[in-house]
Amino acid sequence: MPKHTFKLNGEQVTVEVPGEVRLLWVLRDVLGVRGPKYGCGIGVCQACTCHINGKAFNPCSVPISEIGPDDEITTIEGLPATVGKDLHPMQQAWLDRDVAQCGYCQPGQIMTAVATVRKVREEGREIGDEDLDKIRNVCRCGTYQRIREAIRAGAD
Ligand code: FES
Repeated sequence: MPKHTFKLNGEQVTVEVPGEVRLLWVLRDVLGVRGPKYGCGIGVCQACTCHINGKAFNPCSVPISEIGPDDEITTIEGLPATVGKDLHPMQQAWLDRDVAQCGYCQPGQIMTAVATVRKVREEGREIGDEDLDKIRNVCRCGTYQRIREAIRAGAD
């Protein structure tokens, strides 16, 4: 069985699985990291969104063979907390606004939000409606208005 090494939430990990196994199943079933959720399994719903090297991506669509030892995978469990607190500012914004209804999509929503804010900051901008309109994470409870408000608050 081939071995695959990568960085996960700041730590080096090695797994032995066939190369075609997609990363979402490695994270959830092999490594026990359950923040990334299984929704569609085909890169549409965004429930599984994590970061690879700081950018949002869908691990349900990436075979483990495409992940290398220099790749840094971050799940919601690895988001850095604000100094002196337990949560990342985006997570706190989510709680402050009672965003979650069923909650299933929320880890993916937050990971997309963090990556989106990071991207616009790198471009020297503040987050705007045009950035929020590009977010494609599905929420079947329809909490989109609260999600948009939380992203703006978490970006402050
Ligand atoms: Fe990955 Fe839907 S489960 S995009």
